[in-house]
Parts: sequence; structure tokens; C-alpha cells
Amino acid sequence: MPIAAASLFRRCVVAGELSHRRLSSDQRCRSPLHLFNFSFQLQRYGFNLFHGLDGSAGMLEIAKRKDLYLELKQSMLGQEQLPYHSDNYDAVIIVGALSDGQVPVSVIPELIRVTRPGGFVCMTTRSNISNLQYKAELEKEMVSLQSKILWEQVLVQEVEQWEKATSDKEITQETDYIPGVIYIFRKVTPSCH
Ligand SMILES: C[S@@+](CC[C@H](N)C(=O)[O-])C[C@H]1O[C@@H](n2cnc3c(N)ncnc32)[C@H](O)[C@@H]1O
Repeated sequence: MPIAAASLFRRCVVAGELSHRRLSSDQRCRSPLHLFNFSFQLQRYGFNLFHGLDGSAGMLEIAKRKDLYLELKQSMLGQEQLPYHSDNYDAVIIVGALSDGQVPVSVIPELIRVTRPGGFVCMTTRSNISNLQYKAELEKEMVSLQSKILWEQVLVQEVEQWEKATSDKEITQETDYIPGVIYIFRKVTPSCH
């Protein structure tokens, strides 16, 4: 799943004329903010200067050992403001954490706030039965923010075999994988409206 999302993200960055050089050579902290395995995949595509954030001290310890991050912060998404300046990052990426019982949908405006105008917000969620209500709320919020001209949709990609199901209730006859979705949006530059 991080591989699919990272690969799509790379395609969007290239299509959006935001070059690898810019992401990897700018020293002013304009780097992708994201989490763990995804960063490993992105590094293979030539991106670096990663900042990471998670609510769990244990997960941050694992991330630290990967030696990929310039900075790691602990914060509970949806419960407090993101500990970053506005308009700061070329890309903000949240993979595997937007789902029922994890990060609430209310975090989305914060993800947009810390992205620079013209930068990307890449998100994923699961499409398994127990997450369908959350997914509907997430997509409603995405549409609402688009109607407020805060961001524009770049792509939505359904992935049939997203990850292995963790419960028998989610397994169908055809596969023991559950589906998921990757969303990529671009923050609107104020002068565009
Ligand atoms: C399934 S893991 C995904 C980890 C990583 N993104 C990856 O792809 O390898 C979900 C992560 O979300 C974090 N998480 C869940 N709810 C959170 C919240 N409200 N604020 C911050 N982190 C949260 C968990 O601590 C966990 O590390």
C-alpha cells in the first residue's frame, strides 16, 4: 500500500511540475511531512528531507531507527493543531491512519493549512465494510473543502488489493485482501481565485 501511494504521488509531482530537485535540495524545511513506510518508498524515488509525525511514542521510536527523518514529532491528530507553520510543506502525506478509530476527519483543514499553496496533500483510507461510514464522511469533507476553493482534486485511485484483511468478516470469497483508496489534492494558490 505505501508502494502504490508513493508511486502515484511521484507521478503527480512530475505532472504538477514540482521537481524532485526542489523537494530534495531546498534547505528551508519544505519537505514532505509523512509517516514511515511511505517515506522509505519515496526515498527510493529520490525524495528526501522528511519530517514525520505520529501520536505514538513507540511508532516514533521505530521511525527514528529508520534514519530517514530530519525531525520527528509526537502529536494527536484531530485533537490539537499540527505543530508546524502554515504554508510550510511542498507535500503532506498521511498513509494508513485516516480510518475509523484512528485519525478523525476533522484533521483535514490542518493538513491543508501546513501545505504551501500549490503543494500536494496525499491521503489514503480503507474501503472495507467497517470503514465505509468513515470513508463517506472523509469524502464529504473533501468535497466541502473543494467547494470552498481551498484545494482541488488531482486524482482518486481505488486499489482493489489494499492490504490483508485482519478480520474474517472483511474477507470475500474472491480474496482475503480489503480494498482502499489513494487521494491526491493540490492546495489552491490564493491568486488563482
Ligand atoms: C497503520 S499505522 C500506519 C503507519 C505508517 N503510515 C505506515 O504506512 O507504515 C497507523 C498509525 O497512525 C497513528 N495514529 C492513529 N491515530 C492517530 C492520531 N489521532 N494522531 C496521530 N497518530 C495517530 C498510529 O499511532 C499508527 O502509527
